[in-house]
Amino acid sequence: MTAEELRRMYVEFFKERGHKEIASASLLPDNDPTVLFTTAGMHPLVPYLLGELHPLGKRLVNVQRCVRTCDIDEVGDDTHLTFFEMLGNWSLGDYFKEESISLSFEFLITKLQIPINRIAVTVFQGDEFIQRDDEVERIWKSKGLADNQIFFYGKEDNWWGPVGRTGPCGSDTEIFYDMGKEACGKDCGPACHCGKYVEIWNNVFLQYNKEIDGSYVPLLQKNVDTGMGMERILTIINGKDNVYDTELFIPIMNKLKGMTEVTYSEETKKVFRIVCEHIRAMTFILGDSKRITPSNTEQGYILRRLIRRTIGFVRKLRLDYNVLGELAMEIIQQYKAVYIELEENQEFILDQLDREYRLFGRTIDTGLKKAEQYFSKLEEGEILSGDLAFKLYDTFGFPIEFTSELAFECGTKVDLEGFIEKYKEHQERSRQGAGGKFKGGLADNSIQTTRLHTATHLLNGALREVLGNDINQRGSNITEERLRFDFSFDRKLTEDELDKVSEIVNEAIKNEIDVICEDMTPEMAKKSGAIGIFDSKYGERVKVYTIPGYSKEICGGPHASNTRELRAFTLQKEEACSAGVRRIKATIQSI
Ligand code: ALA
Repeated sequence: MTAEELRRMYVEFFKERGHKEIASASLLPDNDPTVLFTTAGMHPLVPYLLGELHPLGKRLVNVQRCVRTCDIDEVGDDTHLTFFEMLGNWSLGDYFKEESISLSFEFLITKLQIPINRIAVTVFQGDEFIQRDDEVERIWKSKGLADNQIFFYGKEDNWWGPVGRTGPCGSDTEIFYDMGKEACGKDCGPACHCGKYVEIWNNVFLQYNKEIDGSYVPLLQKNVDTGMGMERILTIINGKDNVYDTELFIPIMNKLKGMTEVTYSEETKKVFRIVCEHIRAMTFILGDSKRITPSNTEQGYILRRLIRRTIGFVRKLRLDYNVLGELAMEIIQQYKAVYIELEENQEFILDQLDREYRLFGRTIDTGLKKAEQYFSKLEEGEILSGDLAFKLYDTFGFPIEFTSELAFECGTKVDLEGFIEKYKEHQERSRQGAGGKFKGGLADNSIQTTRLHTATHLLNGALREVLGNDINQRGSNITEERLRFDFSFDRKLTEDELDKVSEIVNEAIKNEIDVICEDMTPEMAKKSGAIGIFDSKYGERVKVYTIPGYSKEICGGPHASNTRELRAFTLQKEEACSAGVRRIKATIQSI
C-alpha cells in the first residue's frame, strides 16, 4: 500500500462514519501558544476541545504534519522520527471510550487486516486521584484481546498531555504492534524499549484541563483525541521492519548513498538515517507558509539545531560540499503533490539551507578541531567544562546539544549546568552593556559610528560572498548618518545582487553574532584568512575582528560587540566612483 492510499483509506473510513475532514494545519500552531510546533493533531483544535463549537461539527478527521524533537536522540533507530504525519480522529463531546476503541479496532483489523494476535494495548492503572480504567479493559476484552495482550501502566505511560504547561489532557489507551521479536525478559511489554513493541495508535480521553497551578479541572465535555503514526503503520502493513524501507525514505536514502563514498553498513546506517530524517524535517519546517528561519530563539533555534546537527553528520559521510539543498529537493519532489506549500516555498527552503550551511560550514571545521583539542586534554573521568562548551557555542556556533554529542562520542559529558550559568552570565553582560552604552537613549556619535563600522565589515563580507573574493576595499568613510564603502569591481551591480548583499547583512544582524577581537602577528592573521593589505603598514601585532560566518578583517576597531546592535541594514545607493571602482552608501537603523 502506498502512503497516499493509506492516508485516503484512513480519512474515508472516518468520513463514512460521520467525521468531517479538516485540513492539515501549519507546523507553527495558531491555536495553542503553549507549544512551539504542532506536535499532534489536537493543537489546532484546543479551543474546540475546551467547548467552543467547531464549524464542521463534533466528529473530525485529518492527516496532520507534526514535529517533535523530544525523540531526537532516538532518531536513527527503526521507528523514531522528529517529523511525522499523524492520522487522527476526534470526538468533540460526542462519542467516548467504547466507540473510539471500536473504530480503531475495526480500522486496524478489518481495513488494514492486522492479525489480532499482533496487537497489544495499554490501560491506565489509576493513581491516588483517578481510578484504574476498568471500562477500557472491558472494552478491549470484548474485542477478543487476551489478558496477556493487555498491560496496565501509570501516568508516565498511560496519560497524555498537556505538551506545554497547561491544556487539555487525560488518560489514554495505546495500541502497539508486536514486531514478533523474542521478549527481552519477563517484564518485557509495550513500555519496554527493546523494539518488540512499536506504538502505532494512541486514543486519548481528553476530559481534564491542566491549569497553571498544576490542578486538573474537568472539561465541559468529554473528548476523544487519537493519533496514529503514519510512517509506522505504513512500515507494518508493507511487511517492513523500519520506516526507512518505505517509499517515504527510499528515494532520499538512495540519493544520499549515491553521493557519498562511505559504504552503507550496520556501523554507518545510523548516520545515513539521521541525515535523511532530519532533511525531511527541516524541509517541512522551512516549507511551512509561516516561513521561519534558523535563529537563536524558539522555533528558529530548533530548526538551526536540526540543520547544524545534520551538517555534522554529513561531514561523517565525508561530504564537505553543500548537499542539504540537493537532498531537500528529493523530499520536495516526493511530497509536493500532497503538501503543495513545499513546492511553493522551494526557493526559500533552498536559500535558507544554503545560508545556514555557509554560516556554519565555515566555522565547523575549525570548531571541530578546537573541540578535539579540548577533549584530548581532559583527564580520565573529567567532563568538559561549561566554559569551554560556551566557547564552542559562542565562537563557532556549536549548539550545546551538538557539543554534548561530540562529548558522548569521546566517552565523556558536558557540564550542562556550568554552560547554562555561563550563557546566562553572558546574556546579562550584553544586557548591561547595552543598557550602559545606550543610557538616556542618546545615540551619540561614537556609538553610531562604531555600529556603522561593524556594518561596513559585514557589507565587505557580503560583497565578497555575492561577487567573489576578487573585490577589494578601496576606501571607507563613516559619518553619523551613513557608511560609504568603495571597492574594486568593473560593472554596475544588478538588483538581484544588491538584494542578496543586503539580505546577507541583515541575516547576520538577525543571527545575533558576537564580534570577536583577537590580537596576533600579521603572519598569523594572514594564515587565518583575515582580509587586510599585507604590507609593511602593520606593526608586530594586529587586531583581527571576526564575525563568525561573515567576516574576518584586520582592523583597529572599535566595533559593536554583537551584530544585533546594528538592528537593520539598508542599502541607499550604488554608483560608479572611478574606473573599476564602485561606491556603496548604506545606513543602519538608529537606536
Ligand atoms: N494527542 C495524542 C498523541 O499525540 C493522540 O499521542
